Amino acid sequence: PETDEAAHFQAKVDREIKIEPRDWMPDGYRKTLVRQISQHAHSEIVGMLPEGTWVTRAPSLRRKVQLLAKIQDEGGHGLYLYSAAETLGTSREEMVDALHEGRAKYSNIFNYPVLSWADIGAIGWLVDGAAIINQIALCRCSYGPYARAMERICREESFHQRQGYEIMMSMAFGTKEQKRMAQSALDRWWWPSLMMFGPSDRESAHSSQSMQWKIKRVSNDDLRQQFIDMTVPQADYLGLRMPDPDLKWNEERGHYDFGEIDWAELKRVVSGDGPCNKERMAARIKAHEDGAWVRDAAAAYAEKQRMRKEA
Ligand code: 3HC
Repeated sequence: PETDEAAHFQAKVDREIKIEPRDWMPDGYRKTLVRQISQHAHSEIVGMLPEGTWVTRAPSLRRKVQLLAKIQDEGGHGLYLYSAAETLGTSREEMVDALHEGRAKYSNIFNYPVLSWADIGAIGWLVDGAAIINQIALCRCSYGPYARAMERICREESFHQRQGYEIMMSMAFGTKEQKRMAQSALDRWWWPSLMMFGPSDRESAHSSQSMQWKIKRVSNDDLRQQFIDMTVPQADYLGLRMPDPDLKWNEERGHYDFGEIDWAELKRVVSGDGPCNKERMAARIKAHEDGAWVRDAAAAYAEKQRMRKEA
């Protein structure tokens, strides 16, 4: 039988009262949030890697500065999200160890290679576009620290999406070769971007509980449909062909019908067997090891400060 604490908790959630760190919460709620928020943070940090490879090869100073700003933002998003997760009783070390030991996930999308500058445009346009759709819903998450982190992240994310679409515009309306690169980027990033929203609702292990707890406010399939409906007209404007022969507007549904997603690919990429998983983890682990002295120095400094205060 439900304890009256659990009943009281669910009544608060049902009345849209935010749950705060010191409130009582079911263990499962805490566990789900630690998993999802730390995975979200890992995605932001790992997401810096594919873009980082193009900072030295950006086609102009303006594009280089934009890309540096975006990468810096993603690092900041990771910090907000790790901090939000720490309010649930986990630590940064535990979360980072879980990632490096393969016990924690990050978004499938960052396991693909960035083959041309047009990919940087497609990432901003599609990947940040998909992330925004997901994150706008998360602004209404029942857990206060997560919902508040989302408010600020969404504002910065829209700059990322716009600068990505501007790159796509300059290439799609550029030379024939540039348009071909833009089309190739769309072809390679479209389906993995749809997979970012997770498995189908009927396959999703966590959705029903997460929706009852109002962690998830809109289902995976509904968010995916929102993204498709918003993005197809943007591709049409660019004069690019959508890499899905089954994609077509369905007047009576008021949505685009689209082809079957290759769920086996999502499973493969999420379980570590994507094109760049090993490279991404090796880069993360090396960065963490190279930065150990900075963490030790900061800890030594903090200890000295504490001793001085106590003296
Ligand atoms: N990549 C990796 N793992 C995924 C995934 C994806 N695209 N989609 C689902 N999964 C995992 C889930 O984590 C879950 O793993 P588990 O069984 O080990 O717990 C499993 O697949 C089943 O999926 P569910 O739909 O049942 O799980 P969720 O209820 O957690 O829903 C989710 C998945 C929609 C991704 C949800 O976790 C979520 O909204 N997370 C926050 C959003 C997020 O992480 N975004 C990262 C996007 S990239 C980004 O933000 C950077 C931006 O700046 C570009």
